Order: sequence, then C-alpha cells, then structure tokens
Amino acid sequence: MKPERVIVGISGASGAAIAVRIIERLAELPSIETHLVVSDAGRRTLQHEIGPRALPHIRSLACRIYPAGDIGAAIASGSFPVHGMIVAPCSMRTLSAVASGHADTLIVRAADVQLKERRRLVLLARETPLHLGHLRNMCTVTEMGAIVMPPVPAFYHKPQTIDDMVDQLACRAIDLLALSIGTIARIWEGEVAETERSSTVTNLLL
Ligand SMILES: Cc1cc2nc3c(=O)[nH]c(=O)nc-3n(C[C@H](O)[C@H](O)[C@H](O)COP(=O)(O)O)c2cc1C
Repeated sequence: MKPERVIVGISGASGAAIAVRIIERLAELPSIETHLVVSDAGRRTLQHEIGPRALPHIRSLACRIYPAGDIGAAIASGSFPVHGMIVAPCSMRTLSAVASGHADTLIVRAADVQLKERRRLVLLARETPLHLGHLRNMCTVTEMGAIVMPPVPAFYHKPQTIDDMVDQLACRAIDLLALSIGTIARIWEGEVAETERSSTVTNLLL
C-alpha cells in the first residue's frame, strides 16, 4: 500500500506545541508520510514557546523537510500526489495570503495547491480577538474549500493537563484530513441528560 502524504506547515502564530504533537501523532502512523515546512516566524515561535530542541525533534520525525522559501519544492506542484495539508498554527498573515492567493512562500503555495486540486486543507487559524479582516479571510478560505479549525480546546473531555488539550486538538486536526486509517481523536459518546437521569432514578425508586 502506498503511504498517504500529509503536508504540515508551521507558521508563526502561538500554539507551536500543537504542531509538534500533530507531527508526533502522524509519525506513529506507519501509513503516513509527513512533509514539513516551517516559516521563519514559525521557527521563532517554536524556539520561544518550546525551546531549541523543538525544531530538531520535529525534523527527525518528518519524512521530508523543505526550506520555507523553496517555491520550487515538490509540494509546490499539484502533480505531486498529496492527501492533504494542515497549517498549524496558522497565523493571520498566512491565512490572509491563502485567502488572496498570494503564494510567495512555500506554506502558502502548498496550501494554494491543495485548494486548486480540491484536496483537504485544514487551517488552525490562531489569533484573538479577531477583527473583521480576519473573519472575512476565514470566510473566504472556507468558500474556497479549506477547513478553518481555530485551536480552541474542548472541556467536555475533562482534560487534566495542557498536554491533554494539545493532544485532543492535534488529533481533531488530523481527523479533519479524513485519512484512510479513520479517526484518532477521543469521541464524545453522549451522556444521559440530567432530567432524564433523575426521572430514571425516580422510576427505580417507585
Ligand atoms: C511569540 C509570537 C507569537 C505570535 N502569535 C501570533 C498569533 O497567535 N497569531 C498571529 O496571527 N500572529 C502571531 N505572531 C505574529 C506572526 O509571527 C507574524 O505576523 C509573522 O509575520 C507571521 O509570518 P508567517 O505567516 O510567514 O509565519 C506571533 C509572533 C511571535 C513572535
């Protein structure tokens, strides 16, 4: 079976730990080939938020690594078969460049290619609060076919640590690629509503 290629782009928004976990999770999947590109600002946030070992660590897990400005790389062409791409975290600069098709960096060019080839593109757009331009760019890329997934943690899984939150976000982002291996994130199985539960208890007591 041919491996499924996934591009991970790391841009310079806060949340570098999510990118690291996405790459770690993908590396655990033998059927996946990870192609990595980190913007200059992405290197800076990796260094600032995690430390000097973050970049060598993710580079050791990726199958191929491309320089941020290499617009002649394989992933810059639609003829290179790729399943999809995650940009995590996705800065407002990269979001805006994707929205306008201003493909002058490899992350933006590769994202542009996913859209034109009608492949999955998941953007973990991170900024807060958002101005109208940010929101409009999110609408534009959604209309173009991208999936905007702001890295907002869920609390219903009762995360105990930041690591739990980071892991759940990373797994959800990977699941949005719709890989052939299926889903990896924890699933909400539902719960009995409080009123229903109390009426069940009442019935048992009667
Ligand atoms: C520590 C740090 C945190 C940042 N966090 C964000 C952020 O959360 N969202 C954002 O849009 N930009 C953020 N920025 C600014 C971007 O890095 C900056 O706009 C940069 O030009 C983005 O370039 P890129 O899209 O090529 O990675 C941050 C910068 C630094 C140094």
